[in-house]
Amino acid sequence: MSRGFFITFEGLDGSGKTTQLRRLATALEAEGLRIVTLRQPGGTPLGDRIRGVLLDSRTEAELGGIAPAAEMALMFADRAQSLEHVIHPALAEGAVVLCDRYTDSSEAYQGAGRGLGSERVRAMHAAVCNGFQPGLTILLLPPLEGSLIRARRRNERHTKTRGTDESRFEREGDEFYGRVYEQYREIARRDSTRVVAIEDEASIEAIAERILTIVHERMAD
Ligand code: TMP
Repeated sequence: MSRGFFITFEGLDGSGKTTQLRRLATALEAEGLRIVTLRQPGGTPLGDRIRGVLLDSRTEAELGGIAPAAEMALMFADRAQSLEHVIHPALAEGAVVLCDRYTDSSEAYQGAGRGLGSERVRAMHAAVCNGFQPGLTILLLPPLEGSLIRARRRNERHTKTRGTDESRFEREGDEFYGRVYEQYREIARRDSTRVVAIEDEASIEAIAERILTIVHERMAD
């Protein structure tokens, strides 16, 4: 299992995907695999700047908001940078790359949430990322309500303790997140080979075990 393999984690804010990504990284490292982890937006110095603009709720007042198509283009600018500077080089060296969000997020949030439509997002993915997709996507999609409550609480905590404010998306209403949720389900139906959806709310341990089994199976193919 020394060849490179690209895995993305997707889901709503507060779905537990970041926790699961970290657990998978630890488990695979213990097996002796070289693991590279990153998140989008972010993961490169340019990406971290873009993340600041996109996620900080003060952006609304300071920059007069972000047009939906500009938001999509910034997400893809970040993605292009991490593909060229991190993801492709790591895969070429045989690493397993675990990425917290990728293009499915743009289709769910900008395509459905902001209403740009899947076609525009998919066209941008073809143009900017050359259509490059992961070998496996783990989609964590527990019931919507619990995810939102967890995400909003976490952001309040971070705003108080770290002075960072990444709540620009979490401030969106339940209708926005309803559209994001439904689009994720649609992506899972459409790309049922690439995307494995975990929709129940089992324990962190049980889900981590399930994910590890899936990853072993896919990497052995
Ligand atoms: P996270 O790092 O906590 O998952 O937050 C990233 C936020 O950015 C999250 O609210 C989803 C949003 N996002 C998009 O709207 N489109 C994208 O393409 C990506 C990668 C993230």
